[in-house]
Amino acid sequence: MAYSPRSVAVETALSAGRLLRERLGQVQEIRFKGTVNLVTEVDMESERLIVGRIQAAFPEHSILSEESGASSTEQDARYLWVVDPLDGTTNYAHGYPLFAVSIAFIVDGTPVLGVVYQPVLDELFLAERGAGAYLNGRRIQVSDQETMIMALLATGFPYDLERRKRALAHFGRFTTLTRAIRRDGSAALDLCYVAAGRFDGFWEPELAPWDTAAGALIVREAGGLVTDYAGRPLTLDSTSCVASNGRLHQQILDVLNAD
Ligand code: IPD
Ligand code: CA
Ligand code: CA
Repeated sequence: MAYSPRSVAVETALSAGRLLRERLGQVQEIRFKGTVNLVTEVDMESERLIVGRIQAAFPEHSILSEESGASSTEQDARYLWVVDPLDGTTNYAHGYPLFAVSIAFIVDGTPVLGVVYQPVLDELFLAERGAGAYLNGRRIQVSDQETMIMALLATGFPYDLERRKRALAHFGRFTTLTRAIRRDGSAALDLCYVAAGRFDGFWEPELAPWDTAAGALIVREAGGLVTDYAGRPLTLDSTSCVASNGRLHQQILDVLNAD
């Protein structure tokens, strides 16, 4: 039987999300990837589930997943899946119910499909290149806010404690220029919330492709803009990330580049 990438991505995100929801509050093993960078056994189980499903459906495709890295280079890199099996591990480890599964499908370097699933609220964000962005089947679009002082923005901080200092300076500046700032702890969801018009913009200095690949496509398909801090279109190699409704983009970049 032939599978479509879309049905595999959606079914897999729902299954992994159910696993995360069922195990919330029951984490037994926390390992440290850095002083404050955690990984739990549930990250690993979610990853095994997702990678197993993708490999079963598309054995010839490549997979880049946070905890296991890139799959063998002998595979066909024309078709690449980029996976974060649990975005928001710190939240998860503390029983804070805001986290997601993020799955993107890239063809010849171009993201064509993005799925982000938040299992506690049962919200599935989905975009296919050129076909718009959806939340639980309903079309979504970015906000039309143009005025910074009326904007709700979101951000995140790096795991490296030294590098948090510069991020803190940016946070301070935005705090006096906007209605409010949120630090929710899941970059994939932050991007989806920009896409849905819940946030007017988002910035974060150090992210990995698995954090952004699906969410960035969802923002773009919802009419928004996603770049790095220099204003270049976000790619899988970018680290810094700015997402917005487009109207506020330059103002956000100006604040980030004011030093
Ligand atoms: C993290 C979350 C967080 C962001 C970090 C990410 P993880 O992903 O997206 O919001 O601030 O930069 O690394 O480690 O929970 O998958
Ligand atoms: Ca992540
Ligand atoms: Ca993760």
